[in-house]
Amino acid sequence: MKMNALSLMLFAGAALAAMPAQAAGDLNLICSADVVICEQMKGDFEKAHSNIKVNMVRLSSGETYAKVRAEVRNPKTDIWWGGTGDPQLQAASEGLTLEYKSPMLDELQDWAKKQAESSGFRTVGVYAGALGWGYNTDIFKSKGIKEPGCWADLLTPELKGEIQIANPNSSGTAYTALASLVQIMGEDQAFDYLKKLNDNVSQYTKSGSAPVKAAARGETALGIVFVHDAVAQIAEGFPVKSVTPCEGTGYEIGSMSIIKGARNLDNAKIWYDWALTSEAQSRMKDAKSFQLPSNIKAEIPKEAPRFEGIKLIDYDFKAYGDPERRKALLERWDREVGAVAN
Ligand code: F6P
Repeated sequence: MKMNALSLMLFAGAALAAMPAQAAGDLNLICSADVVICEQMKGDFEKAHSNIKVNMVRLSSGETYAKVRAEVRNPKTDIWWGGTGDPQLQAASEGLTLEYKSPMLDELQDWAKKQAESSGFRTVGVYAGALGWGYNTDIFKSKGIKEPGCWADLLTPELKGEIQIANPNSSGTAYTALASLVQIMGEDQAFDYLKKLNDNVSQYTKSGSAPVKAAARGETALGIVFVHDAVAQIAEGFPVKSVTPCEGTGYEIGSMSIIKGARNLDNAKIWYDWALTSEAQSRMKDAKSFQLPSNIKAEIPKEAPRFEGIKLIDYDFKAYGDPERRKALLERWDREVGAVAN
């Protein structure tokens, strides 16, 4: 049978109409985890959804919160993936993120579902990880410094100028450290501790994992970080040891949120559902991202620090993701620690 140009066009049109509706276009993503996993997630998603182009920016958790807040009248971001949960809970409380009940919720660990429920489904847990530190074993050996197993050990004068931690305004990791110390010691004692620790801190970095990357390369002796970030440096072959403190420690529920007013809402939902699948989460280890995945069926990397062996506090996410609480703690940190930083 021969077709003329008109019947060919009609045929093509009918074939297209018969295909399931698919979103196309762009997705503006802010990724607040490590840049390597951010790029891998973008690549995997674009492979699975070849009609959606992801425009990805990597920013730390606190920086992302500030950007989303600043753009409230004219949102330029569709989805915020990764980074600690506290600033995402704050954004949720302030109505900056959109309520969305993903069909994937049933496949998630309780801690991830709880994060969603407590925020009115304006954020959800994508991974979890405990706080601690990583230190350079070569530097410790050559300087004869005692290996620190407790928060108290980090105050030794032997570590003067040898510690790095991020700034809690920009970094979710450092805010988790601040909030954890407040929960372990009480607020005034935690600030006394942080002022003393400041004597040993050479630099407050912007990103949370930078301190242990610096320790791995011998630029500092110790970095206070999530322990999965220390384990990543060990997996890279650096002389690093990871520690979770004897007094107890806090943890993060790395989260994900759709930004209210997202211009590419359908694509944001497609990313959201995809990022909660066991397939997407089981790939994280390939980027040496060793957090605990939130999907029950996702593979837990053998390197991932398991919560069972760690003395975890009952971190109060609701209280420390509360806008007033987070703002007050950061202001106090600026006044009492940041202002006197070396
Ligand atoms: O590098 C990964 C990671 O530690 C995540 O587990 C965490 O959510 C994120 O970085 C926090 O980054 P930042 O402290 O820079 O906000």
